[in-house]
Amino acid sequence: MCQSPLHDFIKGLPKCEHHVHLEGCLTPELIFELAARNGIPLPTDPVYTSISTLSKRYEHFTSLDDFLHFYFEGMAVLRNEQDFADLAWSYFQKAHSDGVHHAEVFFDPQVHEDRGIPYETIVGGFSKGCQRAEKELGLSTRLILCFVRHLPVDSAKGVYDELVASKHFEAGVVHGLGWSSSEVGPPKDMFRDIYADAKVKGIPLTAHAGEEGDPTYISTALELGATRIDHGIRLVEDEELMKRVARQGTLLTVCPLSNVRLRCVKSVKEVPIRKFLEAGVKFSINSDDPAYFGGYILDNYCAVQEAFGLNVLEWRIIAENSVQESWIADERKAVLLERIEAHVKEYMHTLAA
Ligand code: HPA
Ligand code: ZN
Repeated sequence: MCQSPLHDFIKGLPKCEHHVHLEGCLTPELIFELAARNGIPLPTDPVYTSISTLSKRYEHFTSLDDFLHFYFEGMAVLRNEQDFADLAWSYFQKAHSDGVHHAEVFFDPQVHEDRGIPYETIVGGFSKGCQRAEKELGLSTRLILCFVRHLPVDSAKGVYDELVASKHFEAGVVHGLGWSSSEVGPPKDMFRDIYADAKVKGIPLTAHAGEEGDPTYISTALELGATRIDHGIRLVEDEELMKRVARQGTLLTVCPLSNVRLRCVKSVKEVPIRKFLEAGVKFSINSDDPAYFGGYILDNYCAVQEAFGLNVLEWRIIAENSVQESWIADERKAVLLERIEAHVKEYMHTLAA
């Protein structure tokens, strides 16, 4: 919770989350619970002594790759379809209580398949969680299959072939593709062929870029067909590219608390929120891996408010852009835009009273 007089307005503002990894919602508590439930031994590293030692370690990541080590280790406790469904449901409940009305969530099938979990178990569980959130919480949801940059391209190709064979995109089970994991190191354009094929099929594409990597990672992602950029904070280092991104209306899915925890910035004040607003760059505010970075979406909104003291009009722009750039039908957009308008009106009304 922030100290701003706008806190209640921000809490109630209808939100869309576009950048959250379902595996990044696996809390230390759930890691210990699922390890016990599935009889999976936790790593021998002393940080796994207790929930509290593990939580403490999460406060001191030194880089993206340092975090990814724990993120990939933690997800090894997910075995059965129900584990995936429970994990997704735990995220959606929290998101709902933070004012999320629409959530587009990432998952990393390559990493699970690498340890012997079938594609159907992973997608089946996560999509069960999505269906439950739609039915019981009234959220709209989108599953985005994420390729990981630290594994061979052939493993991504294998998962992509499974997606195509399953017809999950056509059936509306999986709605888009992304890429994530180690940014600097592997070839920038490693998913060129997959993205070219997916583009022909009309599958929406996004990509993690410009988190640790320089703006050429962003321009490469755009060249390969990404219509959205995850993180993208280093865009400010290239004026021309920033103008192009603003002109094209490409959404950046910014994750302030993640950027601080992974030492991409020293504090939220360094996240270029003001610069993006001034340059007309569209962005949404997101939690990335809330179980690892100390905050869900509302904590990220509050951190932005503490750092930048935005006004109601600026929050309205952020909320409306988040709806406009969501991968949902126009009818759903209209409903969400109306809810934002009603929320702003109600706030203005209480101010005037
Ligand atoms: N960056 C790259 N890969 C990731 C992240 C991130 O912030 N979170 C989970 N996978
Ligand atoms: Zn991410």
